[in-house]
Amino acid sequence: RLLGTAGAVGAGGLALGAVGGAAVRAAALDDTPAELASVGSTTVAFHGEHQPGITTPAQSRGHLVAFDLAPGAGRKEAAALMRRWSALAAGLMDGQPAGTDDTGIALDAGPSSLTLTFGFGRTFFDRTGLADRRPAGLDPLPPFSADRLDPRRSNGDLWIQIGADDGLVAFHALREIQRAAADAARVRWQMNGFNRSPGATARPMTARNLMGQVDGTNNPQPSDPDFDRRIFVPPAGAGTPRGGTNSAGGADDWLAGGSYAVVRRIRMLLDDWERLALTRQEEIIGRRKADGAPLTGGTETTPLALDELRPDGQPAIPANAHARISAPEQNGGAAMLRRPFSYHDGIGPDGTPDAGLLFVCWQADPLRGFVPVQRKLDRGDALSPFIRHEASGLFAVPGGAREGEYVGQRLLE
Ligand code: HEM
Repeated sequence: RLLGTAGAVGAGGLALGAVGGAAVRAAALDDTPAELASVGSTTVAFHGEHQPGITTPAQSRGHLVAFDLAPGAGRKEAAALMRRWSALAAGLMDGQPAGTDDTGIALDAGPSSLTLTFGFGRTFFDRTGLADRRPAGLDPLPPFSADRLDPRRSNGDLWIQIGADDGLVAFHALREIQRAAADAARVRWQMNGFNRSPGATARPMTARNLMGQVDGTNNPQPSDPDFDRRIFVPPAGAGTPRGGTNSAGGADDWLAGGSYAVVRRIRMLLDDWERLALTRQEEIIGRRKADGAPLTGGTETTPLALDELRPDGQPAIPANAHARISAPEQNGGAAMLRRPFSYHDGIGPDGTPDAGLLFVCWQADPLRGFVPVQRKLDRGDALSPFIRHEASGLFAVPGGAREGEYVGQRLLE
């Protein structure tokens, strides 16, 4: 991905603005078409083995939206909807308008790394008469003691994650998706998030969350030998792991190359958090705030020395530090790809910021990713008193559509 290198002059000679530094002045008043800024022109492929928006670097704007199928809509309507949505997503991600009645919201802008990722919730399979093909990985998440979940903002038949490096491009995609739902599905809930913009930092860096921490350092990397096994459901065959089998116990191929998304709206109790001394904040995570390095030293990417003791005999990374408790070594190898957006929806009725993390994590099976880690965090994570899980969703995300195919076709056709 290209990161903030150049400013650019838009078609028609108007300055589009500068990326990553110096301002660009309107250079030409002629009609010469000009290059888009690198941020605007960056495209992500819609077709492929996996859906986009999973390993794609998190964009600066995100919308998460869940739909329920309309009363009376079943498998046929769901298939037609996924066909419509897939064609729309492929076009928008390629920088095309949504059709002749496009809203115009994204005119002048390039695709700006737009991605649309589609998932199916547990109830989708009942609504479409496909309960026997519901994958085992969609078993409901267990309750956790700290859950304060709002069912109206949780789960849903269908889920779409939209990301783009431009707010108008992201909103445009959201709006066109809602319009294309027509009579087939209704919005159940929607959440809006953000991350840092490309070009805001001098070099590409791990993002920070609203607590100010460097967040995402120890994510599995696509170059890791076990990355695919941990994040994506393998093709059906002998020994298909649980995430790829259906409720009838059979291996099912529509989810091959897919993944499971766990979505949690996690409110941060920022007033309480910000009252803590820096050293206390760092002990809670087990990493330094300034650069994300472990409390045991080194740089951001230095492994945590979990066995190291301080002179007083206490662990240098406290026993209840978030980074220790959530580390795969402490959870039988359980790992997930965290790809969150921050959110801020103003001030709540209690006078505190309604802000936090739209936590989205990806794994080949929630029982080998989110669930064991959250269970452990729930029992004694030092971060817990400063966060509140307010909504939850679990979605099976089919493998990527091949050329000429729509997302979920191998399930719905
Ligand atoms: C690591 C913050 C919730 C799983 C981290 C790190 C930070 C952080 C700052 C260290 C840097 C890094 O490796 O990314 C937060 C905040 C949360 C939150 C602010 C809530 C608002 C969760 C949840 C889970 C989770 C709900 C999963 C159930 C992990 C994992 C790591 C991690 C797996 C990497 C551990 C390692 O391998 O070292 N988190 N986290 N986090 N977090 Fe969280």
